[in-house]
Amino acid sequence: MASAHVTCTIVAMNNPDSPIQRPGTGELPHGRPLQTEFDTGLDYPRLGSVTFRRGTLTDNQEALFEEHWPKLGLVLNDEQLDVDSWFGRHAKTVLEIGSGTGTSTAAMAPLEPDTNIIAVELYKPGLAKLLGSVVRANIDNIRMIRGDGVEVLARMIAPESLDGVRIFFPDPWPKARHHKRRIIQSGTLNLIATRLKPGGVLHVATDHADYAEWIDELVNVEPQLTYKGWPWEDAPLLTDRQVITKFEGKGMDKDHVIREYLWEKK
Ligand SMILES: C[S@@+](CC[C@H](N)C(=O)[O-])C[C@H]1O[C@@H](n2cnc3c(N)ncnc32)[C@H](O)[C@@H]1O
Repeated sequence: MASAHVTCTIVAMNNPDSPIQRPGTGELPHGRPLQTEFDTGLDYPRLGSVTFRRGTLTDNQEALFEEHWPKLGLVLNDEQLDVDSWFGRHAKTVLEIGSGTGTSTAAMAPLEPDTNIIAVELYKPGLAKLLGSVVRANIDNIRMIRGDGVEVLARMIAPESLDGVRIFFPDPWPKARHHKRRIIQSGTLNLIATRLKPGGVLHVATDHADYAEWIDELVNVEPQLTYKGWPWEDAPLLTDRQVITKFEGKGMDKDHVIREYLWEKK
């Protein structure tokens, strides 16, 4: 039975009638982003006023975006995704939140050709890099959504429709006053649980010791998720990230320890 107990009210911060602006270009709408107000009493990351790095695209990336984004990319919107028609097949589906430049995404996807991969990222130059990798290597099982991963889960992903969710090296927001921005929170774990199918997997990795302590406190907070620790030999999903990502590389340079977390949806 679908157990999506997240009911939500849309808080229209800005121009609620027209939340999508030039969707074909991958541009986010102007003004404050739409933010869902959850009534679960749990904690959610609040990013409303956070400005993410903008960065510009090279001419090549612009051309690539223009040509391929309309088919492979979407901007956050209020329509539930029809994953089968977007990918042109019915298959396992994994959502990666905060794919950055897509290093892991592009390395893992060819090893799981029977799985649909949806990479969610706010940072357009990162998406442009991933788009470049996808086009150059002819990877046909990756699609991209530009937007806040929490909003994508809440608005675009059907309950109990995902086989996996990945969050690799989420922003650590190290200052105590910014901890509320961290994506791993009781509410996010609950929202992810509602979007995973029974038996679905949540995989998180961090190289930030303080964030690892934060996650350690939350591993058993969501009753729909069974914490499996790491490694989980029989995990029904690829759990080897294949590559040392840019951020992981930086962490390892600083002698940080990589911590990985796996959960199974009950
Ligand atoms: C530290 S980087 C890690 C990128 C990549 N996973 C890696 O391992 O190289 C975190 C990324 O998450 C993205 N991000 C942060 N919050 C997000 C959110 N709520 N939704 C989608 N992406 C987000 C940031 O733009 C950034 O690219």
